[in-house]
Amino acid sequence: MKPIIELRNVKKIYQMGQVQVRALDGISFKINKNEFISIAGTSGSGKSTLLNVMCCLSRPSEGSVFIDGRNIAEMDDNELAVIRGRKIGFVFQTFNLIQRLSALENVTLPMWFLGKSEEERTEKARELLEMVGLGHRIKHRPSEMSGGERQRVAMARSLANDPDVIVGDEPTGNLDSKTGKEILNIFKDLYKQGRTVILVTHDLNMAREAKKRIYLMDGKIEKTEGC
Ligand SMILES: Nc1ncnc2c1ncn2[C@@H]1O[C@H](COP(=O)(O)OP(=O)(O)OP(=O)(O)O)[C@@H](O)[C@H]1O
Ligand SMILES: [Mg+2]
Repeated sequence: MKPIIELRNVKKIYQMGQVQVRALDGISFKINKNEFISIAGTSGSGKSTLLNVMCCLSRPSEGSVFIDGRNIAEMDDNELAVIRGRKIGFVFQTFNLIQRLSALENVTLPMWFLGKSEEERTEKARELLEMVGLGHRIKHRPSEMSGGERQRVAMARSLANDPDVIVGDEPTGNLDSKTGKEILNIFKDLYKQGRTVILVTHDLNMAREAKKRIYLMDGKIEKTEGC
């Protein structure tokens, strides 16, 4: 079986005037379908940069990224946008919800680009919000919800287009530990349902929940566990 994501000697180098920042410095690994992977490391070790490259939000400076066996160097930006829209669901630390839209509208948004009818979009968004335990908050705007509730809206939104891969960048970073555990449990359920889950965290307890663990330091893989 082809890996769903493969990185070969990936480097991401930022040129800041005279100084080179080697945010990623030769990273290689494979992720198969239905794996649960965590990426941990101190602040500045390259976790978000790695996530962005793995999920086709940015291209590597050197090395190769393969999605379902295809080298992204051979894809144009439109193709990458389609992969991001259909294959990968994102959950960020700061939720990134649209403030003037209700929970329901926020979740329907990604479906606009795939040509579903309004009825289908609303039905699906309602289902997803119920799944994350927010069936009673669908009309609330982000400012009218707690942090944990907002993050659950963001999770529902990330699932709108049935992505194979769900990616979280410190998705529990702004939540108390109990709410954080609830969000983690939703990620675990998604994994049990057969999706691939990739979680970035600097919380080592949370990192240990994953079957495969990658630890970064200074843009390099410091160690891996379960890989
Ligand atoms: N756009 C950019 N231009 C220049 N340098 C950058 C850029 N983005 C990130 N960096 C640098 O690359 C390194 C890795 O950053 P990255 O955001 O991946 O770290 P991180 O592990 O996600 O940290 P945190 O835990 O604080 O989120 C840092 O040293 C950062 O300063
Ligand atoms: Mg980061």
